[in-house]
Amino acid sequence: MSNPNPSLLTIVPAAGKGTRMKSALPKVLHQVAGLSLVGHVLGIAEAAGADRLAVVIGPDMDNVRREAEGRARGASVFVQSSQLGTADAVLAAREAISAHKGDVIVLYGDTPLITAPTIARMRDALDRGAHVAVLGFEPFDPTGYGRLLTTPAGELLAIREEKDATPEERAVELCNSGVLAFRCPDLMGILTRIGNANAKGEYYLTDAVEIARADGLQAAVVVCSEDEVLGINSRDQLAAAEAIYQERARDNAMAQGATLIAPETVWFSHDTRIGRDVVVEPNVFFGPGVTIEDNVTIHANCHFLGATVRKGAKVGPFARLRPGADIGPDAHIGNFVEVKAAVLEAGAKANHLAYIGDARVGAEANIGAGTIFCNYNGFEKQHTDVGAKAFVGSNSSLVAPVRIGAGAFVGSGSVINKDVPPGALALERSEQKIFPGWADKFRRLMSRKKARAAE
Ligand code: UD1
Ligand code: CA
Repeated sequence: MSNPNPSLLTIVPAAGKGTRMKSALPKVLHQVAGLSLVGHVLGIAEAAGADRLAVVIGPDMDNVRREAEGRARGASVFVQSSQLGTADAVLAAREAISAHKGDVIVLYGDTPLITAPTIARMRDALDRGAHVAVLGFEPFDPTGYGRLLTTPAGELLAIREEKDATPEERAVELCNSGVLAFRCPDLMGILTRIGNANAKGEYYLTDAVEIARADGLQAAVVVCSEDEVLGINSRDQLAAAEAIYQERARDNAMAQGATLIAPETVWFSHDTRIGRDVVVEPNVFFGPGVTIEDNVTIHANCHFLGATVRKGAKVGPFARLRPGADIGPDAHIGNFVEVKAAVLEAGAKANHLAYIGDARVGAEANIGAGTIFCNYNGFEKQHTDVGAKAFVGSNSSLVAPVRIGAGAFVGSGSVINKDVPPGALALERSEQKIFPGWADKFRRLMSRKKARAAE
């Protein structure tokens, strides 16, 4: 009856403009945890074993096309020329459907919190003999959702859109999440029979259930929690999805062995990688592309984007690591230090108030307080190289391109624009002069002046 492990086509309708977002951006390009909604859905589809992906976009949505193709190589993108309803959206991918033998799952592009295990449960329902499986849930507030009409035994009869429902049907609490799975001998035959004689005058994908049953096929319901199927139509729902996502990400980081002292104040991206025995103090933000290896300590109030922190390093408080920052094993980045496109090798230190950009800082080198790597001349970025165990005194400016040799010293307050040989001392500042007794003379002079003025 059912064919084990058939291949899977996932169709993602994403043609809606999302007028309620009040945005110039199509709805599915808004982000949760630093990734677009459609990017989330495609990632989940891939994790759930999709062999083929079809994304349906509206006309003039080249930005959605680029995002879809960038996030899922091999995704086919189809354009739905006018938005005539969810069945019409799925039929925009008819070429993909006709060419496919196996299961078809529909995941809406605005529903980013669904999980791969739930999709697996949908496929289990197909394995058990259902031709159509619908993901249902019991929302806190069912307003606006389609209702799942079932027999007392729980067999699915039909999905009724709210606008078309009788008062008795509206009283049903089990609702349609929008996720449908099909293992039909002739899915195209079902989809093309869907009409638009309903309250909205739209082609409803949900009508596939009644049509399949009329053909003698079976329909089943799989139930999940409301959190997984939150659909995003407005900015407040976007914020609600972010909150749910962050809660999951924090739980996940802790389950993998990280300590979050105040989890509710730590913000992850969809791709943050965090190791074991990492300690994260309060108020830390991880933008996309961050890897934190084992045994790292992150003190309070740090901001990370595109950075890697290697084993045993310490960062913060109040540090900012920007793209290409690579903080080596046991290195220290202290308060008010900014690092961009710079590799700090093992045990290097920049403990206070520094900017390190476009550079290599060798193992165990020390970058003093207030050091600035002057990497930009207004036109181009230049590189600075600091050798192993070099010591850069406080308040120095290293004007790139420049090299500080291994083990060299830079006297504090120096502006260095010529290479410093290994083991040398470089000093660039005017010589200090001493005037013995000057301060006492000055005070006497000033107090006489004051006394005269008071006479
Ligand atoms: C749909 C379901 C409803 C379910 C709800 C869950 C139908 C008829 N109804 O209603 O039963 O409870 O989702 O959130 O399916 N889209 C297109 N082209 C179109 C229309 C829609 O691509 O012509 C896309 C939208 O971009 C969106 C998704 O399909 O990502 C869902 O469409 P939407 O209009 O939001 O459906 P709902 O009215 O919410
Ligand atoms: Ca919706």
